Amino acid sequence: MFDIILFTPQIPPNTGNIIRLCANTGARLHLVKPLGFSLDEKSCRRAGLDYHEMARVQQHDNLDACLDVLGMSINTQRLFAITKFGTQIVHDTTFVAGDVFLFGAETTGLPDSIHAALGDHQKLSLPMLPANRSLNLSNAVSVTLYEAWRQTGFQTPEAQEIS
Ligand SMILES: C[S@@+](CC[C@H](N)C(=O)[O-])C[C@H]1O[C@@H](n2cnc3c(N)ncnc32)[C@H](O)[C@@H]1O
Repeated sequence: MFDIILFTPQIPPNTGNIIRLCANTGARLHLVKPLGFSLDEKSCRRAGLDYHEMARVQQHDNLDACLDVLGMSINTQRLFAITKFGTQIVHDTTFVAGDVFLFGAETTGLPDSIHAALGDHQKLSLPMLPANRSLNLSNAVSVTLYEAWRQTGFQTPEAQEIS
């Protein structure tokens, strides 16, 4: 249905929450290295994650490798960076199944080079009260993914895709 890309996530509980969110909504999760934690079996078990929740998680050496797997470039129309620097808001955007959402790291966000490479229409923000810094990463993913999923009628992936 949707692909979520986390660019160099740093904080294990955020990614743990997002892994569960993706498992519950049918989204695929892409983690772009370096990661601030290990995703080995022991760590996942300690975080309370089940094996089936990891089935749709992929790790990539860098963003280009991730986009290659998705068959897109940084300028593909249906790739959206979710960033507080976006001029259009998530809730004013029409989403379709297959859309891809890119999120920045907890302390650093997305690098300037990625912001510069994206078209303006690809940068979407989530509303916040003025003078606030940012939302928590896992909350930002959750709000965005549920809005996109709501817009597409809460469709479920084909059974074969989730088996
Ligand atoms: C904790 S924030 C990063 C904060 C970082 N200091 C910055 O200035 O971007 C982590 C990620 O959550 C997402 N995010 C948080 N608040 C957001 C907002 N209001 N609009 C859009 N994305 C947001 C972005 O993808 C961001 O890179």
